[in-house]
Amino acid sequence: MIVLGIETSCDETSVAFLEVNKTAKKSLKIKPLANTISSQIAIHQKYGGVVPKLACREHSENIDFVFSEAVKTAFPRIKNPQKVFDKIDCLAVTNRPGLEIALLIGVNFSRALSWCFDKPLVPVSHIEGHLLSFLLPAINQTIALPKKEEIFPAIALIVSGGHTLLVKVNDYGKYQVLGKTRDDAAGECFDKGARILGLSYPGGPIIAQLAQNYREKNKTNGDKNRKKLPSLPRPMLKTKDYDFSFSGLKTALLYSYQKLSKKEQKQLQEYFAFELEEAITDVLVEKTFKAVKNFPVKSIILGGGVVANLRLREKIGEKAKDFPSLKVFLPELKYCQDNALMIALAGALNYLQSSKKKDFNWQKIKVLANEIL
Ligand code: KG4
Ligand code: ZN
Repeated sequence: MIVLGIETSCDETSVAFLEVNKTAKKSLKIKPLANTISSQIAIHQKYGGVVPKLACREHSENIDFVFSEAVKTAFPRIKNPQKVFDKIDCLAVTNRPGLEIALLIGVNFSRALSWCFDKPLVPVSHIEGHLLSFLLPAINQTIALPKKEEIFPAIALIVSGGHTLLVKVNDYGKYQVLGKTRDDAAGECFDKGARILGLSYPGGPIIAQLAQNYREKNKTNGDKNRKKLPSLPRPMLKTKDYDFSFSGLKTALLYSYQKLSKKEQKQLQEYFAFELEEAITDVLVEKTFKAVKNFPVKSIILGGGVVANLRLREKIGEKAKDFPSLKVFLPELKYCQDNALMIALAGALNYLQSSKKKDFNWQKIKVLANEIL
């Protein structure tokens, strides 16, 4: 079957096509056909973060174009986009969580298509999309999905601009949230931290680059230098629960950095980027492995924009060496970013597993901006 995925929960408008088929051994094989993304970063950059009204306007202006581009990539021989619906078996759209007025654009666009072409419409959680993105191969590459027994039970760390979650995954669709952030998300802390350091939005990739510069320059005498510099806190590192808190870390950075003269700020900008990245990733890694120690799991799954952070990947990989049978599943870097392909995949799995296919009706879909999974 072919699934059309649509994603507009934040500042990326995305449309994807995914082919999903049963193999002879009754497992599933998947082949991504297209994953078109229009990013609004340039629009929001001057405001230092996503402005919901602008996001909504951009989604509604761009979605037709993004849809046509995805159709051209997936079905180059089809000239009339309407003919594509002869090939599509179902639609999947992000209906939660996210910015309400942004979600509405994708949901209403897909409701109209579902109604016009009489195709089922599956509502998908953006978080579930990130969680399953490790399964996605490159465009036009076919892979068989690993057997469930090879992955689950698993601990999933989902870290994005809006969410920081630790989830116990018992099977596809069977999720138990163990902990979440009590205030800012990890990505938000990278973004706000970057703003404090006078850097632009989104902060994560820039902080990561400056941190890397710092590491390279201080390869030989790093620890000696660092001892003299102010350190940042690792909030909730040792608490008994699986929750996170990042707003205090941001405030600590603000106070430490504000105290400095302009000259010192310039000299220490890379150091503070390094220290911020270390503090955020220390907490994420510690809490993830605390869950691994307390639950008998086969794997760790990572997903979300912050998983593009190479230092986080490195630390998870290092710590996983203490657990020889533990597998670590990471999405390809390009699938860390918001995209509709992960939504198509989550939608396909939900659709195939459901015994109530009639429920996937466009009239029943609601936008649930604050619901997680
Ligand atoms: O998942 P995502 O694309 O959008 C949301 O669902 O929020 O995540 C965006 C977040 C931003 O906060 C961005 O700064 C962060 O992911 N990010 C990174 C990196 N690349 C993106 N954070 C740390 N290191 C990176 N390399
Ligand atoms: Zn996301």
